[in-house]
Formats: sequence, C-alpha cells, structure tokens
Amino acid sequence: MISNIDTYSHVRGESIYLDDIPLQVGTLFAKVFDSTVAHAHIKHLDISKAKNYPGVRAVIIHSDITGENQIGGIIPDEPLLAENMVDFIGMPIAIVVAENEHIAKKALKLIEIEYEPLPIIVDPREAHRQGKYLSTPRHFNLGDTEIAWSNCAHIFEGKAESGGQEHLYIETQGAYAVPGENGFIKVYSSTQGPTAVQKTVSRVLGKPMHQVEVDTTRLGGGFGGKEDQASTWGAMCAVAAHITKSPVKYSLDRMEDMRMTGKRHPYSSDYKIGLDKDLNIIAYEAQYYQNGGAAADLSPAILERTLFHATNTYNIPNVKTSAYPCKTNLPPNTAFRGFGGPQGMFVIETAIVQAAEALGIEPHVIQHKNLLKTGDEFPYGQKVVSEAIECWTEAETQFNFQEKIKSIEAFNNKNQLIKKGYAIMPICFGISFTKTMLNQARSLVHVYTDGSVLITTGAVEMGQGVNTKMVQVAAKTLGIDESFVKINSTNTFRIANTSPTAASATADLNGKAVEIACNKIKERLLISAAEDLGVSESDIAFVKNEIYINGEKSKLSWKDLIFSTYAKRVSLSEHAHYTPPDIHFDTNTEKGHPFAYHVFGTSIFEITLDCIRGRYTVDSAQVIHDAGQTMNEKIDLGQCEGALVQGMGWMTMEELIYDKEGRLRSNALSTYKVPDIYSVPKDLDIRFLKTEKTNLAILQSKAVGEPPLMYGIGAYFAIRNAIKAFNPKALVPFDAPATHEKILLALYGKYGEI
Ligand code: MTE
Ligand code: HPA
Ligand code: MOS
Repeated sequence: MISNIDTYSHVRGESIYLDDIPLQVGTLFAKVFDSTVAHAHIKHLDISKAKNYPGVRAVIIHSDITGENQIGGIIPDEPLLAENMVDFIGMPIAIVVAENEHIAKKALKLIEIEYEPLPIIVDPREAHRQGKYLSTPRHFNLGDTEIAWSNCAHIFEGKAESGGQEHLYIETQGAYAVPGENGFIKVYSSTQGPTAVQKTVSRVLGKPMHQVEVDTTRLGGGFGGKEDQASTWGAMCAVAAHITKSPVKYSLDRMEDMRMTGKRHPYSSDYKIGLDKDLNIIAYEAQYYQNGGAAADLSPAILERTLFHATNTYNIPNVKTSAYPCKTNLPPNTAFRGFGGPQGMFVIETAIVQAAEALGIEPHVIQHKNLLKTGDEFPYGQKVVSEAIECWTEAETQFNFQEKIKSIEAFNNKNQLIKKGYAIMPICFGISFTKTMLNQARSLVHVYTDGSVLITTGAVEMGQGVNTKMVQVAAKTLGIDESFVKINSTNTFRIANTSPTAASATADLNGKAVEIACNKIKERLLISAAEDLGVSESDIAFVKNEIYINGEKSKLSWKDLIFSTYAKRVSLSEHAHYTPPDIHFDTNTEKGHPFAYHVFGTSIFEITLDCIRGRYTVDSAQVIHDAGQTMNEKIDLGQCEGALVQGMGWMTMEELIYDKEGRLRSNALSTYKVPDIYSVPKDLDIRFLKTEKTNLAILQSKAVGEPPLMYGIGAYFAIRNAIKAFNPKALVPFDAPATHEKILLALYGKYGEI
C-alpha cells in the first residue's frame, strides 16, 4: 500500500494550490461589494466614485454581464450579481477590479447604495407557514403508518433541531481567469466541479463551453462547499477578465468566505415513532424543515438525501416522511459532507433516544433490535444488502461493550460531580449520486514510449486521497509500479462533462473508468507481447514492470514491450467511460434502486462530563467501519478519523448564529469554534470490518468520504447520557450542537430559559 502521493510535496510546502499558481504580468485583482441587508429593494446604486479611483480598472454590475446573469445549477433562481433586489447579507452586487487588492478594497468603500427594506425570514418554519419554498416538497412513504399506529404499544412525538456548519476548508474559495485568443478563456478554480464552473462561465459570458477551459490541481479542502459554490468566483473572475481583457484573480479572505458562502443546512424537524411491545419500531413519521437560504443551489438534492437516510440503519415497515425546502434570507446553503443524510439520521436517533428514556431502557436496546438485515426494504424501495449487524456485533465484542457499560455505571455511582456517558451510533449511507444521471465518469490514459503512464480523470483531489487511489488502480491493472504512473490536474479539455467530486463516489466512478482504459491498453499489449515472445496470450502476465510467461520472468520488460508495441503502430492511449449498472430512481413514485451499495458501521462513544463547569472530554470513539476490502488503509483511516471529528464538531461545538436581521454573528474563527487536536477523542480506535463479499466499489474498496461523519452524532448522545446521569429529570431539548453553555444549563434544569 502506498502513502498518499502528495505527502512529499505537502510536507515541503511545494504542492500547488490556486494561490501558488504564478500570476501573469498584468494580472488584476477582484473584490466583491456585497449586501449588508438581508432582504431589500435596491433604491439607488452609485459606482462612479469607485470607478474613478486611481488603479481601479472596472466596477462591474449586473448590466455589464454579456451572457446570462444566472448561476443557479438545479433551478435558475440565483443571479451572479444582484439586479434590483438583495435576498441575503453577503449577496454580491458589484465586482471591483483593480491593480491590487488594496486598491480594490479601498474602492469598495466608495460605492454608494440605498436599500428599501423588506421583511426578513430566517426561520424555516416561518417560511413553511408562508409557503415559501425553493422547490417542491418531497414525500417518501412505505407501508401504512395510519394502520400501524393502532398496533403500537408505545408512541412518542417530538421535535429535533440541528444547526448549520461552516465548511472551513483551509483554502478559501477563489479563481484565476486568464483570457486567451479569439475569445477563449482559461479558469484555474478551486472547485469540486470543474464542469460546473465551465458551464457557469459559459452561461455568464454567453460563450460555448469549448471556449472555456477549467483546470484544477487540488483543493485545500472542499467538504461540499466547492461542489456548486465555487462557480460563483470562477464566473466573477471570468466576467472581469472578459471585460478588462486582463487576467483576474480573486481569492476570498476568511471573513468574506464565511459571510458570502452557504453552509450545511440547519434543520428543524418533527417526528413520531411507534414501537410494539417487543420494541420493534413499526411506524415512523417525520417532517423536515430545511433552512435552504435565498436560492435553491443544491438544496433540492440535499433534501432528497435526508429522506433517503431518514431511517438510518433500521428496518421500519411503515414510514411517512415529508421534507420542505424552505426559502429564507440567508446565504444559499449547500452541500456539506453527508449531504442532508446526517440531518435525517439525527432525527431518527433522537426519536429512539426519547423512546428509550421514556421506557426506562437504554437506547442501544432499541437500536440493536431494529438493525437492517439483508433482504429488508428501504422506504425508497431498494432491497438492503446489510453489514449492520456484523458491524454492531464486532463493535460490541472487540470493544468489550458490556464491560464498558458496567464500568461506566460503577464510575457514576462513585462520583457525584463527574459523570460518564456513552452512546452507540450505527450508520448506513447510500453510495451513488442520488441523481442517477450524475453517476458516470471518464478517464484518459496515455502510455509514453519510455513506459511511463499519464492518467487524467474527472476526480478532484481535495485531501481525500483520490489521486493516490487512481494511481493505484492504473498501476495494479497494468502490473507496473506506482512510480511509473503520474496523474494530471483535472481539466475540462482533457475530460469533458465531469460530475462533481462528491457523493463519496469519485474513486468508484473515476477508478472504474481508469480500470477500463488500462484494461483496453493491456489487451493490445498482450497481443503484442504474445507475438514478441511466440507464446499464447493466456500464458502471459504483467507483474512488477516485467512480462511473465506461465509464472516465469521472460526476456521482455514492460519498457521493452511498450516500445515494441509503439513500433508496430498500435495505440498506447485510451479514453474510457464508466457508469454503474442497475441504478435507477423514479421521482413520481419515489421508488427505485438509487444506490450502487451502502456503507455501514458502528461507533461507540464514551465521554466524561464535569458537571460543575459543563465541560467534557471525549474519552473514546471506537468504530467498526465497513470499508470493504480497502485499497489504501492509511487513506481510508484518515478519512474515517477526519469525518468522525468533523461530525462531532457539527453536533457539539460549531454554532452558527444568525440574528433576526439575517446577519451571521459567528463570522470569524474567534466566534466560531471548530474541533482542534484537544477535541479529538483520547482513544480514537477505528477498525475495518473485513469481508470477502463483492460489491460495486472500485477494487472492492468501499467509498469512505462521507459515511464516517455520521459517527459524530454519537458524541451528542453520549453527552446527553452523562447529563441524564447527573440529573435524570433534566429537560434537555434535542437541539444540536450541544455547546458547553447548553450543557451547563441542561445540567441544572435551566435549558428552557435560554
Ligand atoms: N477529505 C478531505 N481531506 N477534504 C475534503 O474536502 N470532502 C469530503 C470527503 N473527504 C473532503 C474529504 C466529501 S464532502 C466528499 S463527498 C468526499 O470526500 C469526496 O471525495 P470521494 O468521492 O473521493 O470520497
Ligand atoms: N451527493 C453529493 N452531491 C450531489 C449529490 C449527492 O447525492 N447529488 C448531486 N450532487
Ligand atoms: Mo460531498 S457533500 O458530496 O461534496
């Protein structure tokens, strides 16, 4: 197993990110003038002073746009630059282009604007009451909950709130647009979706897509935040470059990025859960109010994934769920690792915990009882191929769960002011874009005459290690050392019509395309080798840069074979296309088989709570994760660790606060707390479930990017468990994140007084 191929240059600070691209002479710098009110008519806008400021080359407003002033991907409801209305604080109104950033910043202050305020909505339930939606609400149904309620021994209802989350990619959003000859433009973009940027630039400039090249080397993190929202800055730089006929760069500073870009959607949800006398969950209803912000962005797709994951990893025969994409005056919220799944899963876990507390049993009894089995049916019609019970059982045994509970009980009996809490969080996450169309990818593979191999795919490297995996796939398929393979930047002129790097499916989709291309080249090489060696193709194997005949090394090396094949005028290049078989979904019936497969896992959290201060430490997070036959254990482990801690951050400390005016109060790292090294569980023990089962994953190595984020939900319930150990009567609303302030109030029964 190789290390991440970027390790060497990362450690030496030599990896190239957007800001490391050398700028051409004459490059100009953009800055955005954005709205300071959340909802208003623009009564008056005067850019003349800014335009005349020395060093300013252009001040661009909506009417300067040569194509369409529109960047909405799913629904065309989002102007690049405000026309006569603003819909959120941070909405771009004008672009100042100047000789340097300093001048651009000064000129921003010279723009004069007057607003006529309109009513502001920040609460999704208020938007719902007013019928303000971004797209059509969705409803998934299985069985008949009405009949099921009458068969329930226990029914519980409640409300759950989960907050938003700032992506906090270390590299902020940005782009660099360089105009070329005859209207051509090249955009370097920090994006998960080079094709999305290409499309948006083409639309905004009114040019065909073949005039727009987008190139992405790597991102300093995306986490969903650059799936759709990188297009904005790409389009702005392109418009500015087009108008000024100069290269234009814009990379946002942290506060601009936090203010102007969307985040994980906050959700407010209602639920009703029904169990029979044996604790089988037989009915579940939920309504999700998604805080979508002012434009649709990816909200409709995120909303859908909430419904796909509404029942997490439990078999529930009667389900009725509804999701409402509520339009509010916040920046348009967007993709964030898990893509609506975590929000749905938090609600079912809440319902189970509420039921358990009311029944005086431990939540894990209900969780375990209802785990999915192979052959069960998800509410959307797909049949389950489950690893849920295997993961749970392995977690219980490998981490001595029963003993852990006993020792926690003993600890809590001995200690009054320090309490321990625990929770189990099992997960199930569907792998594939929920929009079936997006499940396709392509690769381009060249073998050069010296035997070195160059591959390009549609995958974007953003720290998740996909480039390393692509190199591994090519090397393995061709029987050569990884050092023979180089992966190129992601570029819309080499690979067209790419799906964004998202949905955790990138390695699967692009990896399979690499595998297909390499296999096609290998087929030709086999014929050539058989000719050269005078043996039959079936006797030949490619192993470690050498050609073997029936297990014996031949006189021919990989390099010899490549040159000899070239000399025969046989192609050493291939472009391949892959799409996973058998996936489909019908949005009329809301039934189908949307996912290539599911990823399962079980985490166990233990925390210690200081009940005087409301502070806690996470003692351990122990996980059995269904990785299939991981192709790179180090990378996959890193993904699990990072995602778990990111999920904990969402559930416990990252608190996005918007005031009634729609202004983000937690708008910098001084007021928005993300996990640091001290927040990481003291014992973070992630082990892979190893099975020989086949699946649709590349080299049987299951997708790993998003699923482990949802383990973090366990931290929330472990904290709650400790609060209840201290004060069993404490009223603790299900209101994530469980910040220290909320914990302290809850410990002393004052939560409702916030
Ligand atoms: N890991 C790092 N280091 N940086 C990231 O930005 N994004 C996550 C995940 N892991 C991310 C990451 C998200 S949101 C997704 S969808 C997947 O990576 C995408 O990559 P994959 O499809 O190759 O797993
Ligand atoms: N996941 C992530 N990103 C997406 C999806 C999805 O299912 N669909 C469209 N973009
Ligand atoms: Mo990930 S939220 O699908 O980019």
